[in-house]
Amino acid sequence: MRALEHVFDRPFGGANPLKHLGAVATLLLWLLLASGVVLFMVLDTSAAGAYASIAGLAEVPWGLGTLLRGLHRYSADALVLVLLLHVAREWALGRYTHARRAVWLTGVPLVLLIFASAIGGFWLNWDRLGQYSAISTAEWLDALPLFAAPLARNFLSGQALGERLFTLFLFVHIGMPLMLMFGLWFHVQRLARAQVFPPRTLTAGMLLMLLVLSLAAPVASQGEASLGTAAQALHLDWLLLFIHPLVDATSAPFVWALVAAALALLLLPPFLPAGQRPPVAKVYPEHCSGCERCFDDCPYSAITMVPHVSGRPGALMAQVDPDLCVSCGICAGSCPSSTPFRSIHELVTGIDMPQLSIDTLRAELVHRLALLPGPGKFVVFDCVEGAQARVQAPDVVHMDLICAGMLPPSFVEWALRAGATGVLVAGCREGACAYRLGQRWTAERLARVREPRLRLQVPEHGLGVVWADVGDEAALAAALDELRRQTTGAAAGFEEMAS
Ligand code: HEM
Repeated sequence: MRALEHVFDRPFGGANPLKHLGAVATLLLWLLLASGVVLFMVLDTSAAGAYASIAGLAEVPWGLGTLLRGLHRYSADALVLVLLLHVAREWALGRYTHARRAVWLTGVPLVLLIFASAIGGFWLNWDRLGQYSAISTAEWLDALPLFAAPLARNFLSGQALGERLFTLFLFVHIGMPLMLMFGLWFHVQRLARAQVFPPRTLTAGMLLMLLVLSLAAPVASQGEASLGTAAQALHLDWLLLFIHPLVDATSAPFVWALVAAALALLLLPPFLPAGQRPPVAKVYPEHCSGCERCFDDCPYSAITMVPHVSGRPGALMAQVDPDLCVSCGICAGSCPSSTPFRSIHELVTGIDMPQLSIDTLRAELVHRLALLPGPGKFVVFDCVEGAQARVQAPDVVHMDLICAGMLPPSFVEWALRAGATGVLVAGCREGACAYRLGQRWTAERLARVREPRLRLQVPEHGLGVVWADVGDEAALAAALDELRRQTTGAAAGFEEMAS
């Protein structure tokens, strides 16, 4: 998956669509909603008048009606493709275990709602394609022992479409999206700062693409529905209506079995054995000042602020919900108590990771820096999810972090004061953080625009930063070489700093 993302990183940069699939899907939902509201305004909501009101859009000057229909239809088509990619990406990255289980499971009903709503949309035109889709769906549903009388009887030849049935069509196509929006809120509410809007350039690109498609391949009605005649030679939308030809080619029970199997497959990943769950973040109330930085930075909304155990009036402390914590350590990196400059023997911080505490990080750094012969000494703070290169060189120590976001910026200054010639911070590429926000917070903290900030005293040439995924090992090695170059001859500066 990462290799594929890298291919798209080159032309698209920060607007790589593969890294914003959830946001693009949400954008498409908004486009569907907006264009749907306008379509609803022109739609004659009676069975007798629906066809003419939608087919008449082709006559609207400047091609605006065609544009509107195209935007609505192609947004739905694009949503199916984007959804497929979104699920494939989250699956490939293993984002369905432990705390992410609920996010995955709340996504599944959205797929059903999207297809149900999209298929229902074709019925509202009440053209021949809508007729074919409505009858096929009714026959397909009749294969289940759900209804006292077969639904397909509503479409007996010679009868006009009943108004009550048309109202049901309206409910399917308009009620489902409302449920979809509610479901989407459920889907993302466990994610802090869920990205529901793609970058502007990507939004503009998507819009342009949909508009061009709407003009290049205009969506048109396919003749008024007539229950007395069977539809022939229809232009099918294979992305949204593939189920009908599938039923025609096989049988209704077979396609139900196929849908059930696909659904089971989609629901399965969160229930597969997921291995040992890593320990979650732990709060040390006596060192927690209630500053709320961890609360702000946690990518999975796993931290809440509660009254401090000390009982001091108004004092707060962090509390971790173990069900939501993904054990990334970003909270430890944000805690103001995580500074190695504190003189206490054991560096207990406000919130920490049991598997790699801030105290262990400081002790290891001291120990391993002391083992380097010098004169050049380089510290690389590596994200274990990123580039796998551990450069074996006599002047380098690698300090592995759960996520780059768990590095308190004060460690950079501290390492330089403790004798390092240069410090390289290595994290995953933009948009590729295994924990969603670690790369972004690290970049902002090191750029001094987010707390805890890197202090101004830290000389620029003493710090290197590289965003390197698995597969970018050469970039990490090159960044280290660059740091060696930029620190050559600058030792006096660091000696000054150390004194
Ligand atoms: C209409 C359909 C869907 C929409 C609009 C949608 C949208 C989103 C959005 C906006 C995010 C947050 C992205 C971020 O800020 O990192 C997200 C995350 C996620 N989605 Fe969906 N989604 C949909 C369907 C699904 C489905 C069907 C699944 C899987 C069965 C799924 C699995 C996930 C997972 C696992 C995450 C969390 C990723 C993480 O932990 O970083 N989504 N989705």
